[in-house]
Amino acid sequence: MSERNSYTPAAMAVDTVIMPNSAEAIAEAARRILAGECVAVPTETVYGLAADATNGEAVARIYEAKGRPSFNPLIVHVGTMDMARDIADFSPTALGLAEALWPGPLTMVLPHREDSPIADIVTAGLPTIALRLPSEPTMRRLLSKVGKPLAAPSANASGQLSPTLAAHVEKSLGGRIGLIVDTKHPPHHGLESTIVAVREEGIELLRAGPITVEQIGAVTGTGVSEALTGKIEAPGQLLSHYAPSKPLRLNAIDADEDEYHLGFGEIGGDSSLSLKGNLEEAASLLFDALHFADASDRHRIAVAPIPETGIGVAINDRLRRAAAGSAG
Ligand code: TXA
Ligand code: MG
Repeated sequence: MSERNSYTPAAMAVDTVIMPNSAEAIAEAARRILAGECVAVPTETVYGLAADATNGEAVARIYEAKGRPSFNPLIVHVGTMDMARDIADFSPTALGLAEALWPGPLTMVLPHREDSPIADIVTAGLPTIALRLPSEPTMRRLLSKVGKPLAAPSANASGQLSPTLAAHVEKSLGGRIGLIVDTKHPPHHGLESTIVAVREEGIELLRAGPITVEQIGAVTGTGVSEALTGKIEAPGQLLSHYAPSKPLRLNAIDADEDEYHLGFGEIGGDSSLSLKGNLEEAASLLFDALHFADASDRHRIAVAPIPETGIGVAINDRLRRAAAGSAG
């Protein structure tokens, strides 16, 4: 085993630097990534923990920092369509989706090209690869500065809530990663990207997200089928994936004294995901609100009903997973 490969717990205790987003921060992030480190960067969905996807050792550091089971494949982020086509085979349907919905919070699972430059560890042995072309300006600048595809899962320890603020990343991975680039504002969407598998037989939804099945259907003119939860092909989709440490109750009109109540619309709660009842606003604040409720002095969390329309489908999906995975 080479020296760079050998990790001890002591070697993991690194200083975690937080740099406000700037040209200097992006240059530093690119320098570290090209040196084989992984770095936390904002995207339009949640913070990602990014490494050079062509460098297996660098990608291994992502798994190590997150404590993630290595059978769980990673999403590869690209800066350009040319880069995407060097990695995956695009059917006419996939091309149509890319043209209509990229850059943006859509991840497509596509056939992985034989001559792809991506390190094997990224796909964890699958013949397919998950690709996304993000819209967040910071991430796009970083992709262009590095000039390589970036493997990036959400920047949280495995099994914890996804981070939407630099402070969440620091709490979860501080001491385990060297750099966090901080945009100082919540992400545009705040929920992980929609994942679809684009196959000859049709399109399958693997994870609900900011891009709705209606939007996808409008582009392709076909229906979108839904994967069974926990199916092996999307191992990260296990019900227990997004877990706060406290018991969580859904569709709560009222809350008990020991519950932190997250409101929506007319239900005010202790704090509201959106007083106006705006689903986009609720999505962008959801994980921060769950982090906050989890850290409060109440013993349980209750969440007001969220309408099952638009991005509300993805919000309810994350809440059900949080309820299933939470303690108790
Ligand atoms: O918004 C997002 O997608 C964020 C930001 C950072 O880009 N990333 C993210 O990554 O949520 P992660 O690793 O937390 O979730 C990726 C999901 C996992 O459930 C994984 O199992 C699935 O994508 N996945 C990756 N490659 C796959 C493949 N070839 N086939 C099926 N599922 C795949
Ligand atoms: Mg994740």
